[in-house]
Amino acid sequence: METKKLIDKFLEVFHGEDRRNLRIFFAPGRINLIGEHTDYNGGFVFPCAITYGTYGIARIREDRLLRFFSMNFEEKGIIEFHLDDLNYKAEHYWANYPKGMIRYIQESGFRLPHGIEVLIYGDLPNGAGLSSSASLEMLTGIMVNELFALQIERLDLVKMGNRVENQFIGVNSGIMDQFAVGMGKKNCGILLDCNRWIYEYIPLNLTGYKIIIMNTNKRRELADSKYNERRSECEAALQYLQQGIEIHSLGDLNEEAFEAHKHLIPDDVLVKRARHAVYENRRTIKAAAALRNDDLHEFGKLMNASHISLRDDYEVTGFELDTLVEAAWKQEGTIGARMTGAGFGGCAIAIVKEELVDPFISKVGKEYVEKIGYEADFYVASIGDGAKEI
Ligand code: GLA
Repeated sequence: METKKLIDKFLEVFHGEDRRNLRIFFAPGRINLIGEHTDYNGGFVFPCAITYGTYGIARIREDRLLRFFSMNFEEKGIIEFHLDDLNYKAEHYWANYPKGMIRYIQESGFRLPHGIEVLIYGDLPNGAGLSSSASLEMLTGIMVNELFALQIERLDLVKMGNRVENQFIGVNSGIMDQFAVGMGKKNCGILLDCNRWIYEYIPLNLTGYKIIIMNTNKRRELADSKYNERRSECEAALQYLQQGIEIHSLGDLNEEAFEAHKHLIPDDVLVKRARHAVYENRRTIKAAAALRNDDLHEFGKLMNASHISLRDDYEVTGFELDTLVEAAWKQEGTIGARMTGAGFGGCAIAIVKEELVDPFISKVGKEYVEKIGYEADFYVASIGDGAKEI
């Protein structure tokens, strides 16, 4: 949406005529190219920021009130709270994300001298696994940082965003989403070693190909999902392995070491979960190498293997995602396809030959509706920058 429309809406909602004291911010969503459920296992991830995301128009107030309005949830009206009471409240609904962010910024010693009023508009399908919540967290972080010139380091904002998810909202998610949203770079994937916090931007040379985002339109509530359960299963598997081998995380193992020690895990389900974490991590390293060598076909094969492992070993795909991905695999011009994000619904991605994108969308779309009974949505992804003032 044009920013002018957002500004008009801001002035309508919060009143006033002066446009000069309004500031405009944007935080993207993300897709993960490969490296799924590896971040909290001390492995590599390979996400990128997309050009869909969350806009925020903001103005500083004279008092200490924080007032938020979202065009995506107009029926909730203006949600209002005070800088001196930043506790989680269920009735504050979506505004708990910005609230949590402001709380942790203050707890880190950066005091906000005044309140703000903010109009939010997101063009990310929400609950689709494209990190609409990390986008909102990072949007709030950079907004407050810029408005009050707090000079918080970007990586610290990334960590605070993750803390909001873990401690304020109660989802035990890893660092990938906030990192991708906060640190994204146009036309690049970010290869991030979640153990050591070392990252590298790898240009995506996709000449002749497009990344297609395929939304199952099956809502996925991370907090309700089996996300936390998977995380504890991995922790349990790690503890068994640690009885026989000195490692700090599953990401410390290569395939051979895992095969040699998996007998230490006495439970078949836990073996499968750990196998996914170990092999997916190795696939991510290989996929980054393939991209560096401009070997898109190898990259696509690794994407496919990633989906199979998430389907069979990690069991986080489900009928909707499998239907989309399996339909994508059958199409002429598909280099690779896999689910992206946490799973359990949400989105998948495919790399498709540019001139075959239209038939791809219509054929996959048709197969999906026939099997599932409602439509999937398709978007051509553009890889953009991380959160910033615009
Ligand atoms: C969600 C979490 C991330 C990551 C992915 C799975 O997006 O927020 O931290 O664990 O799932 O790769």
